[in-house]
Amino acid sequence: MSAPNKNYDPVEVTALTAEEVERATQAALTAISSARTLDELKEARIAHAGDRAPLSLARAEIGALPPQARADAGRRVGAAVGRVKDAMAARQDQLERERDEQVLITERVDVTLPYDRQPAGARHPVSMIADKLSDVFVAMGYEVAEGPEVEAEWYNFDALNIPPDHPAREMQDTLFIAPPEGAPAGTRSGMVLRTHTSPVQVRSMLTRPLPLYVVSPGRAYRNEALDATHLPVFYQIEGLAVDEGLTMADLRGAIQAFVDALFGAGLRTRLRPDYFPFTEPSADVSMECHVCRGESAKPGAEPCRVCRSQGWIEIAGCGMVNPRVLVACGIDPDRYSGFAFGLGIERALMLSHGINEIRDTYDGDVRFSRAFGTEI
Ligand code: DAH
Repeated sequence: MSAPNKNYDPVEVTALTAEEVERATQAALTAISSARTLDELKEARIAHAGDRAPLSLARAEIGALPPQARADAGRRVGAAVGRVKDAMAARQDQLERERDEQVLITERVDVTLPYDRQPAGARHPVSMIADKLSDVFVAMGYEVAEGPEVEAEWYNFDALNIPPDHPAREMQDTLFIAPPEGAPAGTRSGMVLRTHTSPVQVRSMLTRPLPLYVVSPGRAYRNEALDATHLPVFYQIEGLAVDEGLTMADLRGAIQAFVDALFGAGLRTRLRPDYFPFTEPSADVSMECHVCRGESAKPGAEPCRVCRSQGWIEIAGCGMVNPRVLVACGIDPDRYSGFAFGLGIERALMLSHGINEIRDTYDGDVRFSRAFGTEI
C-alpha cells in the first residue's frame, strides 16, 4: 500500500478510475470464462483475484483516498471484486460438474461384461492332508516313496503275504488289467490296479538301503460301486519303518504322531488286535473321538454322531511287518524288524471335517475345495 496521498487527485490514481476497474474486471471475467479446466481456473484466480491482481492492488489504494472519494471508489471496486468472485464460483461449480461427469464416463465399469478371468482353483483337501501327513513324517526323518498305480500282482499281493486264494484277490475287490489282445484264452496279464499303497512298501524294501523309513501317499483302486461311503478310486497313506530293534512301542509313537498331526495333539490312541497278511501281529488303530472325547460312551450321555457313541473311531490299520514279507524282500528277519501302518485319506478327511458324503471328495467341485482354504 502506498503512503496516504494528501494531494489527492482522482484522475491520477489510475487504478481506481472507472475505466481501469472495468478493464480489470473484464480481463478477469474473460480469463474465468475461458478457463477450460480447474487448473486453468486456479491460474485465473491467482492472476485476477490473488494478492497481486489488479483489482486487489486497486482496492489497496482506496485507503489512500480522501474520505469523500473513498466511498465512491470503494463501491466501484467492491462491486467489481464481487462480480469476479461470483463468476469464479459459478465457473468452479461448472468445471467441477464437468469433471465429475467425465470421471463417470472414463471410469465406468460395466458390471454386466462377461467375466474374463480364469476362476481361481483350490488345492484339494485330500492332497493337503497327504502333504500334511507326509511333512510330519519327513520331519521325523522319513522319505516319501511312490510307486505305480498299475502294479504287478506280485507286489500288490504275493510279496505282501496275500496268498493266491485270499479273498482280497477276487474279482469283486480287484480291478485286473486285461491280458494283451490276441493272447490265448485263459492268459492273465499279471497286472492289477493296485488295491492299496502297500506294494510301495515292497518296492521300497527291495530298492532302498536299510534302515528304511518311508511314507507313501497315493491312489488305490477297488472294484466298488460309488456310494456315500465307497469310492472305486481313493487315497491312502502308508508308513513303513525297517530297522534293527524296532518294536510295537515305536509303532505306537508313529501312530500318535499322525493322529496328533491330523486331529491336534491330546487325543488318546488305542490298538486292538486285527489281521492283515502283511503284518504280524496286526492291529487296528482307534483314536479317542475328537468330537465328544469319549463322553458319549458314558451311560446316559448325549449321543455322538461322529463315533456313534462308541467314544473311539477306527482310523488305520497297522502292525509289525510280517517276517515273511521281509524275507520276500531279501531282508534278514533275525536282524531287522519293521512296523507299518496305512490309512484312507478320504476317511480321515471326512472324520476331521464332519463330511458325510464321500462323493464330495471326488466330484472335483472347486467350491468344496475352496472351503478348506488354499486357493491357487
Ligand atoms: N493295506 C491295508 C488296506 O488297504 C491298510 C494297511 C493295514 C496298511 C495295515 C498297512 C498296515 O501298512 O500295516 O486295507
